[in-house]
Amino acid sequence: MTILAAIDIGGTKCAVSLGAVEQDRVTILEKISFTTPSNPKVAMDDITAALETVISRHSEQTPAAIGISCGGPLNSEAGRILSPPNLPGWDNIDVITPFRARFGIPVGLQNDANACALAEWRFGAGKGCRNMIFLTFGTGMGAGLILNGQLYRGTNDMAGEVGHVRLEADGPLGYGKEGSFEGFCSGGGIAKLAQTMTIKAIQEDKAPSFCKNMNELAGLSAETVGKAAQEGDPLARHVFILVGRRLGQGLAMLVDVLNPERIVIGSIYGRQQELLEPIVMTTLRQEALSLSLDVCEIVPAGLGEQVGDYAGLSVAMEMFEKRAGE
Ligand code: BGC
Ligand code: NA
Repeated sequence: MTILAAIDIGGTKCAVSLGAVEQDRVTILEKISFTTPSNPKVAMDDITAALETVISRHSEQTPAAIGISCGGPLNSEAGRILSPPNLPGWDNIDVITPFRARFGIPVGLQNDANACALAEWRFGAGKGCRNMIFLTFGTGMGAGLILNGQLYRGTNDMAGEVGHVRLEADGPLGYGKEGSFEGFCSGGGIAKLAQTMTIKAIQEDKAPSFCKNMNELAGLSAETVGKAAQEGDPLARHVFILVGRRLGQGLAMLVDVLNPERIVIGSIYGRQQELLEPIVMTTLRQEALSLSLDVCEIVPAGLGEQVGDYAGLSVAMEMFEKRAGE
């Protein structure tokens, strides 16, 4: 049995966990999560403290490696977070040296989408695939690419930044670009789209169940809209239909360019699969080459909401295996 530690640095939350790995099974022993402090220095101190806590509570064995999963752009070789759109203020931060110095074990860093792709490939819905893609579809939209049986990072870690691709000349802002894939397909994108449609509805005296007046507008989130959609609210359902079409458009591009056998989609897709899947599939049949689409399955994350917990552990596992092979 090998003990590994994971750090997940997200736009909203940070998590630290300890996992036990035995052959192809991993058990999470403990996880501590907290709201991401806006100051990276404070965040690094809080993460260190949380790591010390989980390690001391299971002190029979020290972890063999630490894996960090974080939204990009980042430089995995240098261990630096560069300028992530969903982590304002985290510019050019070295996230490896402090942990390596404190714990004296190998530390690896990976883009969150890549780390989730590794997790789903090892333990989830991507098991056994030679070519698979993981899409985050949460706070941000990023892709992790497993091609020819290994993680594809591109020339400088920038492969899979699909959130930046423009789907429409105009549209919600995401990743600094109007009408981008992330602008439409992300938590923020869903909230913005719902806000625009709600303003119009309120002006026409047709306020939806989840937002009765303009004062409630700012509080609208993907979560409230998602809940309303599940309860049958027509406006909320319409939001997801529009988002589903955009998701289908983005997926078609990936299917056409990379010819994967499986695309695994995280967070929001799993929560809204019933609504999104039929629209996504219809769009894909219209947009993608059928020879590619015929061999490709589109599925929600097999690890469900826990994929993020396994992401950092998968990076630690890669780190550990690399060291063992040296
Ligand atoms: C970032 C990606 C990241 C994705 C999900 C995007 O905004 O550019 O690197 O994978 O969000 O967090
Ligand atoms: Na990526």
